[in-house]
Amino acid sequence: MSGICAGRVVVVTGAGRGLGRAHALAFAAEGARVVVNDLGVGLDGVPGPDSPAAAVVTEIRAAGGEAVAHGGDIATTEGAASLVRTAVEAYGRLDTLVNNAGFLRDRMLVNLDEDDWDAVLRVHLKGHFLPLRHAAAHWRAEAKAGRTPVARIVNTSSGAGLLGSVGQGNYSAAKAGILGLTLVAAAELARYGVQVNAVAPAARTRMTERTFTETMAAPAAGFDAMAPENVSPLVVWLGSAASAGVTGRVFEAEGGRITVMEGWRPGPGADKRARWTPAEAGEAALKLLAAAEVPGAVYGARG
Ligand SMILES: NC(=O)c1ccc[n+]([C@@H]2O[C@H](COP(=O)([O-])OP(=O)(O)OC[C@H]3O[C@@H](n4cnc5c(N)ncnc54)[C@H](O)[C@@H]3O)[C@@H](O)[C@H]2O)c1
Repeated sequence: MSGICAGRVVVVTGAGRGLGRAHALAFAAEGARVVVNDLGVGLDGVPGPDSPAAAVVTEIRAAGGEAVAHGGDIATTEGAASLVRTAVEAYGRLDTLVNNAGFLRDRMLVNLDEDDWDAVLRVHLKGHFLPLRHAAAHWRAEAKAGRTPVARIVNTSSGAGLLGSVGQGNYSAAKAGILGLTLVAAAELARYGVQVNAVAPAARTRMTERTFTETMAAPAAGFDAMAPENVSPLVVWLGSAASAGVTGRVFEAEGGRITVMEGWRPGPGADKRARWTPAEAGEAALKLLAAAEVPGAVYGARG
């Protein structure tokens, strides 16, 4: 198949459903050979009987594309290592990693169990780190062997990571962590030919269709803004050689809208050139806050 990813080999985690499935199909339509990873878990991360990765491979092949399934848990060393191995064994190379897999365990902080904290941090944050780490080791070896790759990593954050989201303390912390990881990976891996960016998507999937039923609903006619397929074109471009020079950036993608996010940056400041007393520090802080921009509201916050 021809397209902007012709000749590339792309791994997409959590690609059996929702956004990952849309990304895998879109990469294949642009000529990529795709490793479709999915563990087939329920909404809360509990493993189920489905093999959604195999179903997506069937869809890609039916459309004339090339794909293989990988059913491992990306938040384990073996799962992440075998993900990279699958790409290299099936197709002889790896060009792009899309970290996307995850699930939710929403609770207000006062009710959030340690298990729900650990499970969500594990699947999102460790589930980004481990595939990234194993893909990066592969690309470093390629670079050292004189075959510097044109490699790409696309991570998946969320509005919850950018602004915070009530009832999602675990998820917001994990998705904010992914933003920090993206910045460090972009800085560390540039020398090996690897670009690393993140997207914060919004789309109708099983993760969102019940909580935000009205916002996510498909219209009777016209542009279906919340279809997950609307997020994939940006992800495919970021995962292609065409995005040369773009790294360490974060984009929001929803419907027909793409927004570059401009992150934490210094606002008003003051320097006493000596230690403040607590009362002085408070007075200075209030003056600075009065001159500073008001932060965006946390999702779901009242007032
Ligand atoms: N849908 C949205 O509006 C939205 C908004 C912001 C961020 N996101 C993020 O986008 C990504 C995709 O979410 P979605 O909405 O498509 O959800 P989804 O539930 O439809 O798809 C997630 C897939 O990940 C798989 N998965 C879960 N744990 C796994 C593991 N350990 N190993 C391998 N696969 C695993 C699941 O089986 C599932 O098929 C997630 O990271 C989510 O947090 C989604």
